[in-house]
Amino acid sequence: MERLPKSAAVALPSRRTMLSGAAALAAVPALASWVPGAVRDPGQPAAGHHPSHMENHAGHAGFAGGSVPPARAGIDPTAILHDFDRGKASTLPDGRTLREWDIIAVDMDFEIAPGVTFPGWSYNGRIPGPTLWAREGDALRIHFTNAGAHPHTIHFHGIHRAEMDGTPGIGAGSIAPGQSFTYEFDATPFGTHLYHCHQSPLAPHIAKGLYGGFIVEPKKGRPKADNEMVMVMNGYNTDGGDDNEFYSVNGLPFHFMDFPVQVKQNELVRIHLINVLEYDPINSFHVHANFFHYYPTGTMLTPSEYTDTVSQVQGQRGIVELRFPYPGKYMFHAHKTEFAELGWMGFFEVSAA
Ligand code: CU
Ligand code: CA
Ligand code: CU
Repeated sequence: MERLPKSAAVALPSRRTMLSGAAALAAVPALASWVPGAVRDPGQPAAGHHPSHMENHAGHAGFAGGSVPPARAGIDPTAILHDFDRGKASTLPDGRTLREWDIIAVDMDFEIAPGVTFPGWSYNGRIPGPTLWAREGDALRIHFTNAGAHPHTIHFHGIHRAEMDGTPGIGAGSIAPGQSFTYEFDATPFGTHLYHCHQSPLAPHIAKGLYGGFIVEPKKGRPKADNEMVMVMNGYNTDGGDDNEFYSVNGLPFHFMDFPVQVKQNELVRIHLINVLEYDPINSFHVHANFFHYYPTGTMLTPSEYTDTVSQVQGQRGIVELRFPYPGKYMFHAHKTEFAELGWMGFFEVSAA
């Protein structure tokens, strides 16, 4: 198992020793001010008067709470929401659409929380990587170049030949630093999918940032959504070991607390929700004051569930569809409190129609 460099260490104690609820909030003043009373246990004294293990670390250099401005972080989760990359499209002699992308693996640092630098491995310099969009039946070519310091692959979820699977030892297998390979297959089946590196040791190769969404639109399309977006749920292991210190949607902890997702009253919001979280077995998505229809893996056109909370294991994904009947600000977050308090929380801001 590869270890992250010590320089990536963050001054937070291991999450295994963290207290939850009021005690955890007490150590993160910016958080407490974002959601006064929403997460804090009303039975507990005010945050500042509740000594905790974490408070003892509050003077350390390192994470000071809040989100990093996107330009400084090198990640803009708001831009990623609507950034569907349809590739370079052309028409094949048989009339089908060919879509091509250039994907480059590159090692890059990201400031994922104030004062916390994450030495990431990225596709195209971003975490998560580009959201690739295709229509069912399109021919796809992904020209992959490994500009990183370690061997990598791109393993796509979907139906394709073994040698296009991005698995070490099969076909081209591991792509060494400086080498290139073109993955070629058809877009099938329709649904909300993902891609990620499949090099061993697998956990760090994924957790360092080598993943992205892969959306295959049904041939005849879905009912038109007014506001279609992608949310990739991830985590960051910043101090080694086999646990995460931060959690996020679209790559930047707490971002959507400071920059709420903008939606309009009553419009149809469609969210391609993808869980790439490593080290923790289950992630979840919960929205306040509303319910949504859920389409597991996005492979059916009828929803299987009407709920306000859904869980996903690693690699699981699905489509969330909802309308907000009232204007205002509504939280969404992992229903695992610990993940929420370490970055996986945000707001929808609903403007009046
Ligand atoms: Cu890799
Ligand atoms: Ca860790
Ligand atoms: Cu996978």
